[in-house]
Amino acid sequence: MNLKPSKNLEMLPPYLFTKINQLKKEAYEKKLDVIDLGMGNPDHPTPAHIVDRLCDTVKHHKNTHRYPQAKGMPKFRKAVSQWMSKRFGVDIDPENEVLSLIGSKEGIAHLCMAYLNPGDIALVCDPAYPSHFNGPILAGAKIHSMPLLAKNNYLPDFTKIPQNVLKKAKIMFLNYPNNPTAAIVEDNNFWNEAINFCKKNNILLVSDNAYSEITFGDYRAPSIFEFEGAKDVALEFHSFSKSFNMAGWRLGWVCGSKKLLYPLEKLKSFIDYGSPTFMQLAGVAALLGDDSPVREIANTYQRRMKKLSNGLNKLGYNAPQTKATMYVWAEFPPELKKEGSLKLCEDLLRKTGVAISPGIGFGKHGEGFARISLVTHDRRFHDALLRIAQWTKNYKK
Ligand SMILES: Cc1ncc(COP(=O)(O)O)c(C=O)c1O
Repeated sequence: MNLKPSKNLEMLPPYLFTKINQLKKEAYEKKLDVIDLGMGNPDHPTPAHIVDRLCDTVKHHKNTHRYPQAKGMPKFRKAVSQWMSKRFGVDIDPENEVLSLIGSKEGIAHLCMAYLNPGDIALVCDPAYPSHFNGPILAGAKIHSMPLLAKNNYLPDFTKIPQNVLKKAKIMFLNYPNNPTAAIVEDNNFWNEAINFCKKNNILLVSDNAYSEITFGDYRAPSIFEFEGAKDVALEFHSFSKSFNMAGWRLGWVCGSKKLLYPLEKLKSFIDYGSPTFMQLAGVAALLGDDSPVREIANTYQRRMKKLSNGLNKLGYNAPQTKATMYVWAEFPPELKKEGSLKLCEDLLRKTGVAISPGIGFGKHGEGFARISLVTHDRRFHDALLRIAQWTKNYKK
């Protein structure tokens, strides 16, 4: 047989982490002591009260073993609405304006299929979380990149999008606090601009708020629904993965007006049954429970970010500390940069066992950078820095 996968699938290179994972496997086989700072995969376990709720539900509530309600059980949607109100002061109707997801990645990919046709254009930041560009490509659409540059505080410049692109643009992805740059929106007027721009050009604005809770000090990330007119144009994705250390549980939600949500709900009704009911109930425990574990998670990342960023800056990297996320976005020293981030990250992993993600994997404008996830024990960062220091010194020679 000579069967080829779909053209849309063939358009995509292997997933960013496939290559890094292969190299990691080789490193493990060579008995290298791997320090894995590649994926944004939280290293601490899910808070105990959430785990307890899951175990209790699975054990004692046999009904939860049956098919779930695809759009999310009422209790889950109500908890989301209460949380959105308490956390952001926004009004989300639990009946019509919330959809549960099997993680926000699933929702983002399916949203693209629900809205995009071949020939449509998706406005995607560069660099970006890979699903923001892979999702539209899988749906047969084209990408128009909006560069995120340090000189613009890693915000896109909407005025640079050509008119002929705007005519075909149907969806725009924004993600702040941002993966991979760790940037935040300092001036909230940006959100008003984005809303007005999308309204004017008839574009669905997708706010990916996966890191809304991973913020430091006094900084609090907003919901897009805090800004006027957002319900007319925007959907917002939320994830349990980072806020509650629940990456493996696969649970998230999207909220927004009934009208904008409905195509995704309809599409998903043909594909999945939603997250398991016991998982949704554990999600309720997470959302309505004490929020001190969430603050503790954020504090851990802040502590690690400070340590790694200080260490890397001393080695000639440009690795700023920011006010959010679980990543350090590090620019390689000028003498190394020309080698390209993929080659550099591969070499670092092979020689030292430290796995980090090449910036190019997040888009053309990520070249020259690496994203380092803050997902290992605090003590290991000292070790990682020593290895990176030695490797950098040897590479510069
Ligand atoms: C910006 C962004 N959105 C969405 C996701 C996916 O989250 P989930 O685990 O809810 O699918 C991630 C995961 O790293 C992310 O960085």
